[in-house]
Amino acid sequence: MQIHAAISDLRAALQDRGRIAFVPTMGNLHAGHIALMNEARRHGDTVVASIFVNRLQFGPNDDFDRYPRTFQADCEQLIAAGVDLLFAPTENDLYPERQQYHVEPPDIQHQLDGEFRPGHFRGVATVVLKLFNIVQPRTALFGKKDYQQLMVLRNMTRQLALPINIVGGETVRADDGLALSSRNAYLSATQRAEAPRLYRTLSGIRQAVRAGDRDFARLESAAAAELDRNGWQTDYVAIREQSDLQRPRAPENQALVVLAASRLGAARLIDNLEIDAVNEH
Ligand code: PAF
Repeated sequence: MQIHAAISDLRAALQDRGRIAFVPTMGNLHAGHIALMNEARRHGDTVVASIFVNRLQFGPNDDFDRYPRTFQADCEQLIAAGVDLLFAPTENDLYPERQQYHVEPPDIQHQLDGEFRPGHFRGVATVVLKLFNIVQPRTALFGKKDYQQLMVLRNMTRQLALPINIVGGETVRADDGLALSSRNAYLSATQRAEAPRLYRTLSGIRQAVRAGDRDFARLESAAAAELDRNGWQTDYVAIREQSDLQRPRAPENQALVVLAASRLGAARLIDNLEIDAVNEH
């Protein structure tokens, strides 16, 4: 696997490489990322990954400084997965001057996770557009665990007419249901045992909605209260439309998703489950 830090080196290495499939990451790779790398192989002649912990998408109280950085182990996993090129810029490579031009996503950037992480989706959209311009992929892959991120990037790509196919990869879970995430590393052993409650809570909502329950507000608040009773501090539990993450407009036969973010100790965990057919029993 070739590793490049400088934009010009990467561009030179990507000449005549056919269709490029690209998986941007912030490193600390787990099986969820590797599933995206494997899926990428089906979409391109050359698979490119990036590792860059993007300061622009972290707020002043977020975990930028303590975000786990495991570059050597990440490289070993990428090599084992058959990734062709890794773009691993330093901050100076990607932001040699203060970034003054930004991608401003629509109002959804201030809702759900955006309400609790001001500026986050603007930082994500800006770095991803920049990475797209550098790598020029035909296909780019993102995990569905960051559902709102995937939606923002999919809509950005469509509205700005970028010639890139966006693919969402299914969330990879531990046997007990906990979605794999770099932030699970912040959990103590006791918290790790408690953490699957988030998935169980979302599954309960999915089951209730599939069984015909339409009182979304009550389902959301009951789920948040259940988490908080068990030591969590919940930012939101929300049932939304899959396409734009707005509140369900006509609650029949739509593609919905239930999303949640909640804190357990030092970890802020997010998860979601798609609910495809509301009338399914
Ligand atoms: O999902 C992530 O790891 C990051 O938000 C991304 C897409 C690599 C942008 O920094």
